[in-house]
Amino acid sequence: MEKQKIHKSVLLQEVIRLLDPKPGQVFIDVTVGFGGHTEAILKKIGPRGKLLGLDQDMKALNWLGANLQDRYPNLVLEKANFSKVEEIAKKKGFAEVDGILADIGVSSAQLDEPQRGFSFKVSGPLDMRMDQSQRVTAAEILASYSEQKLIDIFSRYGEERLSKTIAYRIVEKRAKMPFEQTLQLTRLIEEIYREKGIKIGKIHPATKVFQALRIEVNDELRNLEKFLPQAIELLSRKGELAVITFHSLEDRLVKDFFQKEARGCICPSDYPICKCGHEKRINILTKKPTIANSEEILENPRSRSAKLRVMEKL
Ligand SMILES: C[S@@+](CC[C@H](N)C(=O)[O-])C[C@H]1O[C@@H](n2cnc3c(N)ncnc32)[C@H](O)[C@@H]1O
Repeated sequence: MEKQKIHKSVLLQEVIRLLDPKPGQVFIDVTVGFGGHTEAILKKIGPRGKLLGLDQDMKALNWLGANLQDRYPNLVLEKANFSKVEEIAKKKGFAEVDGILADIGVSSAQLDEPQRGFSFKVSGPLDMRMDQSQRVTAAEILASYSEQKLIDIFSRYGEERLSKTIAYRIVEKRAKMPFEQTLQLTRLIEEIYREKGIKIGKIHPATKVFQALRIEVNDELRNLEKFLPQAIELLSRKGELAVITFHSLEDRLVKDFFQKEARGCICPSDYPICKCGHEKRINILTKKPTIANSEEILENPRSRSAKLRVMEKL
């Protein structure tokens, strides 16, 4: 299948403009997906450059292996979670690189395949694993988490205002029949919204709970938290890290991390002398996140929530 039909890369021109890959440079793309950004970087670094591409989804890697690798012998692909990027990069000979890209989240291919269970719109198993060799699925979480733990993830990761009712009703229902299919959950949430007299607007009421479950299944925030300091370690001086996020929790994490690393001392302001010893390690290159323009949003509605932040190592 043609790449553009499987996944349209978000903020492609902006990523290339900001990372500015040059012939002979070395890059890591920790979320290769369907290789849109990867190929654009490969074209810029040319045959003398090299690129390590990671993804935790074997399907994406198989597709890239069959569709991209023969044209780019300098592309090294590895199935891995980016939370282990430092160890893998060193093992593969990418200990010091000019640039790193992370385009976090799910690809359109993952979202659009009913069997993966990411979409509340189509019938499929409640799976949601990006790494299909992992054990925990969304169905397992719905079957085994306590009511309180479900409330926590729906409110924290989904900012869902009906978290309590939804968690209560899941626990009540699962005693009779386990939640195994996406539409079982979608229908329940629609039912709760209707009972509460809340009008279903443009954003479907199941969106937030599905997002929360996906974040929990894939441990998305913790992986991002582990990845960011490792990325700095791998960059050479003036090397750049670009991160694209698709929801506010991730963007906040990236923003806070960049701000902390761009500061020297981080002691409370009333300390007479510095006790933390924290040193400034980076410059932030995007004071405000770069977002998609109206043309891109029209062509690819997924880009609507994308935020790109870029830093350089000192
Ligand atoms: C938005 S897509 C990337 C699209 C890609 N930039 C392109 O242009 O085709 C995100 C990809 O990141 C992968 N991914 C998400 N979290 C990951 C993680 N912690 N480790 C490795 N890969 C991850 C997903 O499996 C998915 O294929």
